[in-house]
Amino acid sequence: MILDAIAKRYSVRHYQDRPVEDDKLAEVLEAARLAPSGSNLQPWKLVVVRDRATIRAMVHAVGGQQFVEQAPVLLVGCKNGKGYNVGHRYDGEIIDIAIALDHATLQAASMGLGTCWLGNYDGNEVRAILNIPSENPVVAILALGYPDETHPHRPRPRKPLSELVCWEKFTG
Ligand SMILES: Cc1cc2nc3c(=O)[nH]c(=O)nc-3n(C[C@H](O)[C@H](O)[C@H](O)COP(=O)(O)O)c2cc1C
Repeated sequence: MILDAIAKRYSVRHYQDRPVEDDKLAEVLEAARLAPSGSNLQPWKLVVVRDRATIRAMVHAVGGQQFVEQAPVLLVGCKNGKGYNVGHRYDGEIIDIAIALDHATLQAASMGLGTCWLGNYDGNEVRAILNIPSENPVVAILALGYPDETHPHRPRPRKPLSELVCWEKFTG
């Protein structure tokens, strides 16, 4: 059940010193690939980072978040630079990349892997480290790896549906 993976996922900030197997990484990437996108443009490119020295360098670029160094994989989502000129009145690339990476987090969770979104990054620094051209702004970064479960996590609360959802017409 997809809801099981959704409920299982949490932000993993402690990772085992254990690589992610190629076949599991392939499934995580496949989940992203199958994600929907506006007009099916799939307007993104994902940089998969496994090189230890590069991941160490990325720690500074993500605001010094030290736990990132433990992650065996980083997935860096950027715009593909082709634009979104199909009449949409919203920043479709950001939405599409977020959907793709969220698919990735859920596939990862379903296989016992952990992820953490990294929104606190310096896009220029990330681009410099990964040779990403300026036409391809970085939109989202995920850490990926096996959770170190010796560090128990406390589930973060969510607002009740009654606060998040209204029916038929907007009510405050
Ligand atoms: C867009 C986005 C950016 C985030 N950036 C960071 C980050 O830079 N560092 C971090 O440790 N967690 C980050 N998080 C994780 C959130 O803090 C976390 O999802 C939230 O507190 C709910 O906790 P949970 O994921 O464990 O359910 C980010 C999450 C999202 C969706």
